[in-house]
Amino acid sequence: MSKSLLITGGAGFIASHFIHYIRQQYPEYHIINIDKLTYAGSDTNLKHITFTENYDFIKGDIADEQLINHIFSDYDIDGVIHFAAESHVDRSIKDAKTFIESNVLGTTVLLQAARNAWNKAGELDKRRFYQISTDEVYGSLELDTDKRFNEQTPYDPRNPYSASKASADMLVKSFGHTYDMNIVTSSSSNNYGPGQHAEKLIPTIISNALHGKPIPLYGDGKNVRDWLYVKDHCRALDLVFHEGKTLEKYNISGRNEQSNIELALMICDILDHLKPKTYSHKELITFTDDRQGHDRRYAVDDRKIRTTLGWKPLMTFDAGLNKTVEWYVDQWEKVTL
Ligand SMILES: NC(=O)c1ccc[n+]([C@@H]2O[C@H](COP(=O)([O-])OP(=O)(O)OC[C@H]3O[C@@H](n4cnc5c(N)ncnc54)[C@H](O)[C@@H]3O)[C@@H](O)[C@H]2O)c1
Repeated sequence: MSKSLLITGGAGFIASHFIHYIRQQYPEYHIINIDKLTYAGSDTNLKHITFTENYDFIKGDIADEQLINHIFSDYDIDGVIHFAAESHVDRSIKDAKTFIESNVLGTTVLLQAARNAWNKAGELDKRRFYQISTDEVYGSLELDTDKRFNEQTPYDPRNPYSASKASADMLVKSFGHTYDMNIVTSSSSNNYGPGQHAEKLIPTIISNALHGKPIPLYGDGKNVRDWLYVKDHCRALDLVFHEGKTLEKYNISGRNEQSNIELALMICDILDHLKPKTYSHKELITFTDDRQGHDRRYAVDDRKIRTTLGWKPLMTFDAGLNKTVEWYVDQWEKVTL
């Protein structure tokens, strides 16, 4: 059945992959993408579909109540998939305010507009609001344990970014309980793949290595993240949106924990092979002062989505990382040629 979906933050890294994915899977769906095009958004991520059928792009802020209400009255929105957020922890440590405006206020504005429109249509419990969240809301784990966060783990955010995402998740949950809205949430581990903004860890390692610049790693480089290939995440998002249970939460993981130093070494190995220099790229690795309040380890237990919705990642880390590095090398060559 055809649906009109409002996707927020669709010019960003994950949501642009998701829009490509969903258009392949459900060409009959009408996608309305609202994005403020902050420094993190790039309309080139979506250039091949800009003027295609069943796709509308609206440049705007999700915290702009008038605009969001207009969108809900102009379109008969069947579902919201809410990605838009300020997403970089370092920026949130420097200035938390934009994170509250976009991530907390923006989510509230969307929830209220969806609630009003769907209430009028008598479909509050049918049309779905899907909150895209992060494993960072659960806080930090120690390195010397094999504990992982599950869906019942209490939230314990440790930086302004994760605190703003945790607040948004709580608001979404509260709308589900208070107004019987059909809400669902998922928290995924770190995504990687082509098209991520240059400021994030993997693109920074690749870009600095290619330019022969120091590869900066915080602290002792032993902080651990669990990496998930972005296309595998998109398959999980599709399942949760269409088949996830109302009011439930799903963790999504790559089951692929790597310390930052292991990750940098792997990328350097790939680059030593793809773009050999007179020295190994590994020699560029340097350690910098640690991030304030740096979470040591994230790891999520994703047994629920695997057993109830039958999802599992298909991309191995080796293949996904090679693909990602090759993509960045290709972009870099286009610019430097
Ligand atoms: N990247 C990850 O590893 C990861 C992991 C788990 C969860 N998430 C979550 O997934 C979502 C997408 O993450 P990403 O890494 O693709 O982010 P991103 O920073 O690449 O993209 C965010 C997009 O949101 C847009 N945006 C920001 N504020 C806006 C506003 N007020 N109104 C409209 N648009 C706005 C930006 O222009 C950008 O296009 C976020 O909610 C993030 O918390 C990300």
